[in-house]
Amino acid sequence: MIELLRSRRSIRQYEDRPIEPATVEILKEALLRAPSSRGLEPWEFVFVDDRELLGKLARCKPHGASFLQQAALGIVVCGDSSKSDTWIEDCSITSILVQMVAQSIGLGSCWVQIRLRRHDDEHTAEKYIQELLRIPEHVRVESIISIGYPAENKEPIPTEDLKHGKIRMGRFE
Ligand SMILES: Cc1cc2nc3c(=O)[nH]c(=O)nc-3n(C[C@H](O)[C@H](O)[C@H](O)COP(=O)(O)O)c2cc1C
Repeated sequence: MIELLRSRRSIRQYEDRPIEPATVEILKEALLRAPSSRGLEPWEFVFVDDRELLGKLARCKPHGASFLQQAALGIVVCGDSSKSDTWIEDCSITSILVQMVAQSIGLGSCWVQIRLRRHDDEHTAEKYIQELLRIPEHVRVESIISIGYPAENKEPIPTEDLKHGKIRMGRFE
C-alpha cells in the first residue's frame, strides 16, 4: 500500500480504450467493501461509460471536469443524506479507495469535485448531474471519479517534498 501511495498521482489523460468488464467488477467490489459510519452504507454509485453522457458530465462545471470526456468510465459518487449524517465522510472513503484500487490494476483516475461547485449562475453542478442522471434530491452528489488507462506519465512526489511540519507530536503549539 505505501508503494502505491508513493507513486499515486491524479491522472487526467486517458487512452481511447474501454475498461474490461472483469476489471469494472473489481472497481465495484472496492466501492462496496469500504467502511462506513455505523455500517450504514449511505452511498449510491452511478457508473457512466456512455461517451455522450460522459461528455455531458464533462460540462458539469466550468473548470476541472473536461477530462471526463476522454475517460473510459466516470463513477458518480452519491450519498443518501437521509440515511446518515456522515454521508460525506463515507463517500470520500469510497472515492479514494476506488482510486487506489484502480491504480493497483494499471488504471489512472482523478477526483472531480461536485459538492459545493457551480454549473453556472443559476444551477449547482450537483443539480445539473441530478437532473442529467435522474438522481433524487436527497441523494447528494459528492464527486465523480474519472477512470481510464493512463495516457500520461507523472513523476511521484519526491519524499523530500513531503511537508513533515504538518505533523506535530503531542500538542499543536
Ligand atoms: C476533494 C478533492 C477534490 C478534487 N477536485 C478536483 C477537480 O474538481 N478537478 C481536478 O482536476 N482535480 C481535482 N482533484 C485532484 C487534485 O487537484 C489533486 O489531487 C492535487 O492537485 C494533487 O495532485 P496529485 O493527486 O497528482 O498528487 C481533487 C482532489 C480532491 C482530494
